[in-house]
Amino acid sequence: MADVLLEMRGISKRFPGVLALDGVDFRLRRGEVHALMGENGAGKSTLIKALTGVHMRDEGKVVLDGVEIDPRSPRQAEELGISTVYQEVNLIAHLSVAENICLGREPTVFGKIRWGAVKRRAEEAMARLDLRVDVSQELSQCSIALQQMVAIARALDIRAKLLLLDEPTSSLDANEVAELFVVMRKLRDQGLGIVFITHFLDQVYGVSDRITVLRDGRLVGEYETSKLGRMELVSRMIGKDASKLERGEKRAAGGKAAGGVFVEAKQLGRRGSVSPMDIRIGKGEVVGLAGLLGSGRTEMARLLFGVDKADEGYVEVDGRMVTLGSPKQAIRLGFGFTPENRKTEGIVPHLSVRENIILAMQGRRGMWRALSSREQMEIAGRFIEALGIKTPSPEQAVCNLSGGNQQKVLLARWLANEPRLLILDEPTRGIDVGAKAEIEKLIGQLCEAGMSIVFISSELEEVVRTCQKVVVLRDGAKVGELEGEQVSEEAVMQTIARHADEA
Ligand SMILES: Nc1ncnc2c1ncn2[C@@H]1O[C@H](COP(=O)(O)OP(=O)(O)OP(=O)(O)O)[C@@H](O)[C@H]1O
Ligand SMILES: [Mg+2]
Repeated sequence: MADVLLEMRGISKRFPGVLALDGVDFRLRRGEVHALMGENGAGKSTLIKALTGVHMRDEGKVVLDGVEIDPRSPRQAEELGISTVYQEVNLIAHLSVAENICLGREPTVFGKIRWGAVKRRAEEAMARLDLRVDVSQELSQCSIALQQMVAIARALDIRAKLLLLDEPTSSLDANEVAELFVVMRKLRDQGLGIVFITHFLDQVYGVSDRITVLRDGRLVGEYETSKLGRMELVSRMIGKDASKLERGEKRAAGGKAAGGVFVEAKQLGRRGSVSPMDIRIGKGEVVGLAGLLGSGRTEMARLLFGVDKADEGYVEVDGRMVTLGSPKQAIRLGFGFTPENRKTEGIVPHLSVRENIILAMQGRRGMWRALSSREQMEIAGRFIEALGIKTPSPEQAVCNLSGGNQQKVLLARWLANEPRLLILDEPTRGIDVGAKAEIEKLIGQLCEAGMSIVFISSELEEVVRTCQKVVVLRDGAKVGELEGEQVSEEAVMQTIARHADEA
């Protein structure tokens, strides 16, 4: 096969207690987008890292462009033409966009960095993604989506033969995904080989030419995308018949909020981010916040949890007015919150899975009523089981788990705390299809038991399936509310579009 760009053969990688890759073969052609698929913990990221010198492989060999290679660091891999955007974006928040793009390879003259050239280079790199932004702004000022684009621009900045994208789209909205696909296709047509990891099946079928499936660190197979149906793909990923996957039943429409109102936000807002709006959350009700990226979903969630302070309106809990000045106060009221950015706002990387799970519970009980180690083990064990968290032991440091499994740990932390209101901001981002179904089912059970939930997801399908009520946001304002039978993907889209026309 003359057009093979990269060949990996018999790759194995062992971590303490885990055989992450077991003799995996992988072949990438020139000028193709190749989707690498598998459940959380299947070994996708590890395969990428074994190629880029982040991890040393224990066995196997790698041939790029007919030459055997063995990069010892990501830097060496870059020099060989392997560009990578890792799942956990590692950019530096307090540097500018331009500095992040050029970091470590700034154009210099006699050892002095030429800032003009840095800026120009960064602008060019962003322009390749069709993005025109002020590259001198600080990265922390950019949305997560834009930060993701910066990471891609950075990877594209050098002369690449091979582009590895590990879940680059998990924080992008539909338009941004479409933009990224345009760029991917362009690069593919220039002869680059692209490896694309994602949990969004639509995207796999939208952009990839071929698919390789991994399961439990082993190769399952290599397929032409056009010849592998969705059900077959999912069945191969999970190793059983996907048509038998249990979904949470679509929750009964309306009527359910018979438990009465739990939380009511009245004309709650914050200047510059959220226009004043009413939101009513019933006991045992799942209320969705829908809208495009940047519509104010996360900002509203942060107001409800007291991360940001509202400067207009107020909140009532059980009919009594409350102050939401800080997350601590919110937690005391029985609120919980899983933020969208698990790396900076949630996970404590070097604590164990057990410690991460009991963190919120322990926080609520206070220092003096420590949970016994038996209680801790029991709780951690229960959630590892319920969410299918893949870890060799509860004592494993969370940073050693796969991305999707870290997300599950964060979810477990707040579920264990048994909040009365749980605010979930993109809880299933990076989580595989099987686990998504489990989480939906769990949400259904919790609501039966009376827990209220605010649910945010970019996947409209998921919002519609999970929520009894959907508050539609646009440009930081509430533009509609759908309830019971009215809740459908079309209705949400129409509500957004109607107000776009008016704007
Ligand atoms: N640094 C590490 N130390 C110990 N174990 C690790 C380390 N990195 C990965 N693992 C383990 O190797 C296995 C494969 O992980 P990997 O990150 O490759 O999964 P993945 O397919 O990328 O999953 P996801 O879809 O959740 O990102 C997992 O069981 C994970 O816990
Ligand atoms: Mg991964």
